[in-house]
Amino acid sequence: MKNIVVLVSGGGTNLQALIDAQERGEFEGGRITCVISSKPGVYALERAKKHGIPSRVIARKDFGDVVEYSKAILGALDEEKADLVVYAGFMTILDELVVRAYPFKMMNVHPALIPSFCGKGYYGLRVHEEALKKGVKLTGATVHFVTEVCDGGPIILQKAVEVQNGDTPEILQKRVMEQAEWKILPQAVALFCEDRLEVKDNIVIIKN
Ligand code: GAR
Repeated sequence: MKNIVVLVSGGGTNLQALIDAQERGEFEGGRITCVISSKPGVYALERAKKHGIPSRVIARKDFGDVVEYSKAILGALDEEKADLVVYAGFMTILDELVVRAYPFKMMNVHPALIPSFCGKGYYGLRVHEEALKKGVKLTGATVHFVTEVCDGGPIILQKAVEVQNGDTPEILQKRVMEQAEWKILPQAVALFCEDRLEVKDNIVIIKN
C-alpha cells in the first residue's frame, strides 16, 4: 500500500476531491495517511479530521528560512514513510533538498494550462486574474511532477476549461476547480498508485 501525504495551505477543496475519490475506491494500492498544513486553523485540516485522516501543522511562519522549513517538511515526510506527496493548494515553494529526496514522487495541481500563467508569483486567484487580463478563451488546470523548477516539472494530466463573457477571477477559479482540478488531481493520484506513470526524458508516459 502506498502512503499518500497531502500538503495543504488553505480551504482544501482539492484535498476533498482526493478524499472523495479514495472513498469511492479509486486509489487501488494507495491511501491518504497524513495531511500536512503550512498554516494553522485552515479548513483543509477540518476536512482531514472529519474523515479520520491524521494531520500535522508545520507552520511556515515558525521558520525564518525556507531551508530550515524544508528540512522540517522533509523530516515529517520521512517519518510518515511517504510514497507519494501531493501538493493540493500548498502555497510554499520548498527548497530543492525535498524534491531531490522524492524524485518524481511529488505532484502539484496548478490552476492553468502550463506553460501559461505559471511560475513564481502565479498562485491561487492571481493566476485567473492574469488569464482574464490576457483575454485567453481557454484556460484549465495541470497536474505535474514537482522538480526544482517552479511549475516546470513533467506534465502528468491537463484539462481545458472555457472562459466565458463576464467571468471574474472568482467565477473562473470555481469553474476551473469544478471542471478540471477536482477531476485530474484524483486521476493522476490513481495512475501513480497503479504504477502507470513513467518519466522518460522529462516526459510523462501513461502506461496502459
Ligand atoms: C487551487 O486552485 C490550486 O490549484 C491552487 O490554489 C487553489 C487551492 O484551493 N494552487 C496554486 O495556485 C499553486 N500554484 P484548495 O485549497 O481549495 O484546494
